[in-house]
Amino acid sequence: MNESNLISLIRQMTLDEKISQLMQLSTPFYEGAESEGQITGPMEAMGITDDMIHNSGSVLGLSGAKEVIQVQEAHLKKNRLGIPLLVMADIIHGYRTIFPITLGLSCSWDMELAEKSAEIAAAEASAAGVHVTYAPMVDLVRDPRWGRVMESTGEDPYLNSQYARAFVRGFQGKDLTNDHSRVAACVKHFAAYGAAEGGRDYNTVDMSAWQLREMYLPAYKAALDEGCQMVMAAFNTVDGIPATGNKRLLKGLLREEWGFDGVLISDWGAVKELIPHGVAADLKEAAYKAMQAGIDIEMMTSAYVHHLKQLIEEEHIHEAQIDEAVLRILKLKQTLGLFDNPTRGASVEQEQLIIMSDLHRAAVRDAAAKSCVLLKNDSVLPLKAEQKIALIGPFAQNGDILGPWSWQGSKEEAVQLFDGMITVSDPENIRISQGCGIETGTEAELEAAVAAAKNADVIVLALGEDSLMSGEAGCRADIQLPRIQLELIAKLKPLGKPMVAVLFNGRPLDLHGVYDQVDAVLEAWYPGTEGGIAIAELLYGKRNPSAKLTMSFPYVTGQIPVYYNHYRTGRPQGAPDAQVRYVSQYLDIPNEPLFPFGYGLSYTTFDYSEARISSGTMSVNKPLTIQVRVTNTGSMAGEEIVQLYVRDLVGDVVRPVKELKDFRKITLAPGESQEITFELTEKQLRYHHHDLQYTSDPGDFIAYVGTSSIEVQELKFTLTKESE
Ligand code: IFM
Repeated sequence: MNESNLISLIRQMTLDEKISQLMQLSTPFYEGAESEGQITGPMEAMGITDDMIHNSGSVLGLSGAKEVIQVQEAHLKKNRLGIPLLVMADIIHGYRTIFPITLGLSCSWDMELAEKSAEIAAAEASAAGVHVTYAPMVDLVRDPRWGRVMESTGEDPYLNSQYARAFVRGFQGKDLTNDHSRVAACVKHFAAYGAAEGGRDYNTVDMSAWQLREMYLPAYKAALDEGCQMVMAAFNTVDGIPATGNKRLLKGLLREEWGFDGVLISDWGAVKELIPHGVAADLKEAAYKAMQAGIDIEMMTSAYVHHLKQLIEEEHIHEAQIDEAVLRILKLKQTLGLFDNPTRGASVEQEQLIIMSDLHRAAVRDAAAKSCVLLKNDSVLPLKAEQKIALIGPFAQNGDILGPWSWQGSKEEAVQLFDGMITVSDPENIRISQGCGIETGTEAELEAAVAAAKNADVIVLALGEDSLMSGEAGCRADIQLPRIQLELIAKLKPLGKPMVAVLFNGRPLDLHGVYDQVDAVLEAWYPGTEGGIAIAELLYGKRNPSAKLTMSFPYVTGQIPVYYNHYRTGRPQGAPDAQVRYVSQYLDIPNEPLFPFGYGLSYTTFDYSEARISSGTMSVNKPLTIQVRVTNTGSMAGEEIVQLYVRDLVGDVVRPVKELKDFRKITLAPGESQEITFELTEKQLRYHHHDLQYTSDPGDFIAYVGTSSIEVQELKFTLTKESE
């Protein structure tokens, strides 16, 4: 079908049929469904009739080839014009073979890996009948209390944009119509959901248009530039109006300014939530505002099906608006090849062949190893296979290592830490004691752990958060490890044994009581299906940690938000003329995070030569090169992530103290070295001015090259006008 066929199809549809096409319901509404599907929001009675269901355009949270085929076939029998359903689901970091949580994966700084992870997730999901994933989530985040940081790629707009593109490429491939191992991507949550006040989910976002454009919008735009098919509107307000009803944001910016012509979907229940937000008096007004703003698909509320018809009759809304929305939805169905093949990739045989295949398991294992960040190591790691290990803590033998948003992933199928460790060491060498649960424990359990650790050479502490402590609606006000786990560490400390903490969690934590008590810390995040093996290989030095943080770890919770690309104040700490008291600082803690953006250790060491810059001046037609030679000076092969930052010393508006502009990930054998060359252009120095113009200014800059956002060398240069 081409566009004119789709238009003539729309002409055959009644108004009711068209309006129902805009409704998205969850799995249990559909004939042929056997499961409740994935429920990720409130379920309530909505007064939905059979006719509405038979004419609906899409279903959410449905998967499994057999069930999808049943639902699609039943639907096509009941749908007068034979319009197939779109099947959508949250495939965030794997379908059933689960990759590390996205925040973890992002610490690999590896775009090929990100793309591959999305490709594998897409292949499994598509075989299970899914057509669209509600991913990538590209919200920039600065507040680790927010449970959804686990789903993001961190605090940097440039890195987020690179990941946004990589995930879209991986999910969608190059030809969605014919390549049925891919799924359409839906970038979310438009916009700025990551900035919810206080890190509380669904909470207000209030920021300047300048800040929005400078930091928060680039990653959504990058996803769309890569061809992302769909956009999901955020739950939060932008400029005082919930995104779902925000005409300026959706119609103005997304559609008109950016030219996005794909499908725009609400989040779960968000159209109706315009009422409790206090911007719609009732469901009818909510329908009106969402439609005027440009929402095509209403997810899991019934404002459109109950009120659009009347709004059209009353001439508040034109039928042409409905037609446009329906056309966008039908076009997506067409792009996915659904009119020719309504069950698309769904295949029980293919599911059996690829889901949890050896290939996919190997890929998630590799990804997990590349995602774990070594935060501290006082010469205790790597472990030796012959060492006697006391493996203590609630994650010693625990399959809850997949993390939130791993719907089809099975905790039972996950490789636990102990099982991973015995692939490297003799089980005789490892003594286990849980010591406590994640949040509770008794004195007797703590004492049992102390007894188990008495004769060990090294104590490995497997600690962390329950997976329900992050993810959607998984926010915490205090982001330390639960008290009982800190008590466990304190109990073991007097034994005087070397201690290694392996952390399973969904956010940067306040690590007081952990990093200051133990000799090594490996941040494993939720590492996914093969986590236990990947971690064991890192602990025993079969692999070398290489990941670096993409989100700062705060010194304490009260320091939040803390992020590397902050602005200078009028009274910066450490300035040559800074006073002792009247500067921007805390009296009780440093301004700097505990572990900064870009930081992560290796078992080897890397030496950076003196960095060189090709010239002291740059202009539009004269870019600069910055070079540095990096040498592996240790005895183990390792990967290093070389980072380039820039600071604009004087701007029209305040400029970040550092902005990531480029990076290289390199692998070096012991003794090997590599020359890294970065090209820096005028384009990379552009920013949003007070009037939102995106340009650069002549003047002085500093380029920083180094191994993290704080360990860098400085190089000065000046941007000149062409004639100078
Ligand atoms: O895709 C999600 C979204 O990120 C949060 N609310 C529910 C949606 C559908 O599951």
